[in-house]
Amino acid sequence: MPVRRLYMDNAATSFPKPATVLDAMVHFATGCGASAGRGGYAEAVECGRLLSEVRQRLCSLFNGADPRNFIFTLNCTDGLNLAIKGLVDPAGKGHAICSCIDHNSILRPLGTMEDRGWLAVTRVRVDPRDGLVDPAEIDMLEDLLVAAFNDARGKSEALMQSEMQKLTAGLNLPAGLKLPF
Ligand SMILES: Cc1ncc(COP(=O)(O)O)c(C=O)c1O
Repeated sequence: MPVRRLYMDNAATSFPKPATVLDAMVHFATGCGASAGRGGYAEAVECGRLLSEVRQRLCSLFNGADPRNFIFTLNCTDGLNLAIKGLVDPAGKGHAICSCIDHNSILRPLGTMEDRGWLAVTRVRVDPRDGLVDPAEIDMLEDLLVAAFNDARGKSEALMQSEMQKLTAGLNLPAGLKLPF
């Protein structure tokens, strides 16, 4: 009796791929094979249409705001580097939290930016025996979350007030009036 293989490394890549994925890849390799946006011939246009359709589908799957916000990267390392570097403002004194057993695609860019003084990094300790977060770290994580929440709330209130002022400017409203929105 053949041994049944159970693949459990889906963080690295998914397996097995559904037949529809194989069909689409074969169709692209044998029937299209062009590069999107690199020409006006039929196959290049078809490739662009396919990309646009995938963006639409991803947007609907993830309930996104705009299909154009979905980008394709070389792999997870490339995507994570892009996201992390895009979020960090070297002058902004940001704070990143990761675990000490995160993948190198996270640890290395964070470590480099920390060395350059661009942000502070907290590496949550993990118990090597079971891979679980060390309970001693929970209080520290809670404090960081509360601080992040308060910061976000303060910023959203300031933004709301400045937008409201734009809307009500020139209306000559009595001082202290609270609008119902
Ligand atoms: C948890 C985790 N994150 C990121 C990566 C990086 O993915 P990629 O090899 O697609 O760059 C891997 C790869 O194994 C991973 O297991």
